Amino acid sequence: MTSVQQLIQADSAGWRKRDCITLFDVSIPQFRSVLEVADGLKALDLQRQPGVEWQYPRTLAMIFEKPSLRTRVSFEASMAHLRGHAINLSAQEIGLGTREPIPDVACVLSKWVDIISARVFSHSSVAGLAEFATVPVINALSDDEHPIQAFADLMTLRERKGALGNNLKLTYVGDGNNVLHALLLACTKMGVNISAACPPGYLPWERYVAEARRIGKETGASVEIISDPKIAVRDADAIYTDVWASMGQEAEQQKRARIFAPYQINENLLACAKPDCLVLHCLPAHRGDEISEAMMTRHSETIYEEAENRLHTQKALMLLMIGL
Ligand code: CP
Ligand code: NVA
Repeated sequence: MTSVQQLIQADSAGWRKRDCITLFDVSIPQFRSVLEVADGLKALDLQRQPGVEWQYPRTLAMIFEKPSLRTRVSFEASMAHLRGHAINLSAQEIGLGTREPIPDVACVLSKWVDIISARVFSHSSVAGLAEFATVPVINALSDDEHPIQAFADLMTLRERKGALGNNLKLTYVGDGNNVLHALLLACTKMGVNISAACPPGYLPWERYVAEARRIGKETGASVEIISDPKIAVRDADAIYTDVWASMGQEAEQQKRARIFAPYQINENLLACAKPDCLVLHCLPAHRGDEISEAMMTRHSETIYEEAENRLHTQKALMLLMIGL
């Protein structure tokens, strides 16, 4: 048995039969366990060693109310690697909460599949699935939070900068959205200092900031939310950005482009951070908006690896949730 298999079998962090809906509910040891198992899985992959597989075939139902490249393909590839199977269900197909009530969808899917993932507009839809499903449910992005993105982000930060802790600072620049919400909780849980520069009116929600500050008191991580990007990125080890208009906000795109223009990650902004500062982006990227063409090109290796790490962290999460 490999050390990765031992980690999964031991489940010392207590993931078994747990959902992953919000990082509010993910303990520090649980967060860390996903990174540990993901590191082990990635090492086996890179060494072209026999990977970890389930003892019998498992199935994942993936519900998508919004578009996706990374989430859909990384989940589907994860299931192929683990000798499982993924079923893609579009919102139109199943009419979550319209054609059929959420509790019925959750209960019947639980009769056929081993895990459910859902990308939704309203966070209450994925929370409702978790409430009624008898199998683990994963939030694959909601309007509130993108927890599984944060696992890959922190894995990438650790790979590039070493052990996670108060010696590191990540700065998010842009919209105070679902991705920042997850990062606030993920960074503080891992002890990483986090600052965010967001335009007035586009700040992260207070309950995420308050929870991050509460966690930070425990782990020593600082939390700073300001509006000046140049001040926010001072001494940053990593700068992170995301689209200015999230899925569902397309009508606001032009208005947001004007408001967010001073929040672009470009040469001038990066010059205010540490010389070896990383640039991270959850993707999709809009070159010329939240990130300049030159920055995207220069930092694409890290950003694409961050996308790769979605595969390893989601595989790890599913293995921890249901065992081998
Ligand atoms: N980062 C991310 O979740 O990408 P997709 O929207 O393509 O899944
Ligand atoms: N904030 C973005 C993230 C995309 C992965 C959105 O919700 O569209």
